[in-house]
Amino acid sequence: MMLPKVLAALVAIPTALSCVPRSTNGSMEVPETVPGPNEPSDPETVGYFINHFSLNVNNLTRSIEFYRDIFGMRHMFTHYLSPHITVTYMTHSQGGRNGTGYQTTDEMLRYKNNNGGHLEFIHLNITGEDIPGSPKQTSTLNHVGIIVPDVEATQERLEDYGVTIYKKVGEPMPSEGPLSRPATLGDATNLSDEEFAYFQEAMSQLNQLNIFAEDPDGNLLEILPLNEPPLFG
Ligand SMILES: *[C@@H]1O[C@H](CO)[C@@H](O)[C@H](O)[C@H]1NC(C)=O
Ligand SMILES: *[C@@H]1O[C@H](CO)[C@@H](O)[C@H](O)[C@H]1NC(C)=O
Ligand SMILES: *[C@@H]1O[C@H](CO)[C@@H](O)[C@H](O)[C@H]1NC(C)=O
Ligand SMILES: *[C@@H]1O[C@H](CO)[C@@H](O)[C@H](O)[C@H]1NC(C)=O
Ligand SMILES: *[C@@H]1O[C@H](CO)[C@@H](O)[C@H](O)[C@H]1NC(C)=O
Repeated sequence: MMLPKVLAALVAIPTALSCVPRSTNGSMEVPETVPGPNEPSDPETVGYFINHFSLNVNNLTRSIEFYRDIFGMRHMFTHYLSPHITVTYMTHSQGGRNGTGYQTTDEMLRYKNNNGGHLEFIHLNITGEDIPGSPKQTSTLNHVGIIVPDVEATQERLEDYGVTIYKKVGEPMPSEGPLSRPATLGDATNLSDEEFAYFQEAMSQLNQLNIFAEDPDGNLLEILPLNEPPLFG
């Protein structure tokens, strides 16, 4: 099972991760996780939920293969909407988050709007400039999060497939690549180097068990375990 392997990895974590010194933002000590309020949502919104995120992709075949072969997503459908524009849906259909169930494509389509967690790809099939991935911050998309039962097994899988990994299980936030730059947060012109370094240390602690990697278009992926350590430790 996951735990002993992960514990072994944690023992090997450098001391940089052992504890982030408390700091203050002027009015409160950080890092600190503050739960949200108990206020119920507007009853009129009962039944609303997030169904999909949509990525602009540079090469549709490559993106379908990546999310299908590495992460086990199924290709639900592609709409060929015009001579050069397609819309594709991918989804997990395994009988629940950690089950082994199987659904036919017809069944997946029937439940399309009952389930969340779909990925949509929009593909403009004309030659042109590559659309930059999320770390380039041309938009507000930061990353796509994927739950896996065993992060270390997934890490080996990513390595086998030659996926670019920016941060492995048990490693601190990297000092190179997109995650090493405040630009990955958007326009961080006014953030001091000191605060970014501090943030990186807090993130290293928060993300000990997580992997950060990239998809074929350079979008950041966060891969995290089902049984995450408690947020409020
Ligand atoms: C510090 O955090 C508190 C609580 O989130 C917030 O209200 C306040 O605006 C923050 N101050 C600064 C300077 O960021
Ligand atoms: C798109 O990706 C597929 C699969 O990786 C590859 O075989 C094909 O050459 C790519 N097409 C272009 C135009 O790069
Ligand atoms: C599946 O997920 C449930 C809920 O998180 C958990 O209790 C159970 O142990 C998991 N089963 C397996 C085989 O991982
Ligand atoms: C994109 O265009 C190429 C060249 O016309 C074609 O071979 C390919 O099938 C098209 N892909 C899609 C998804 O329409
Ligand atoms: C950010 O920095 C610019 C240039 O130094 C300054 O004009 C601006 O007021 C700053 N913005 C904030 C929110 O501090």
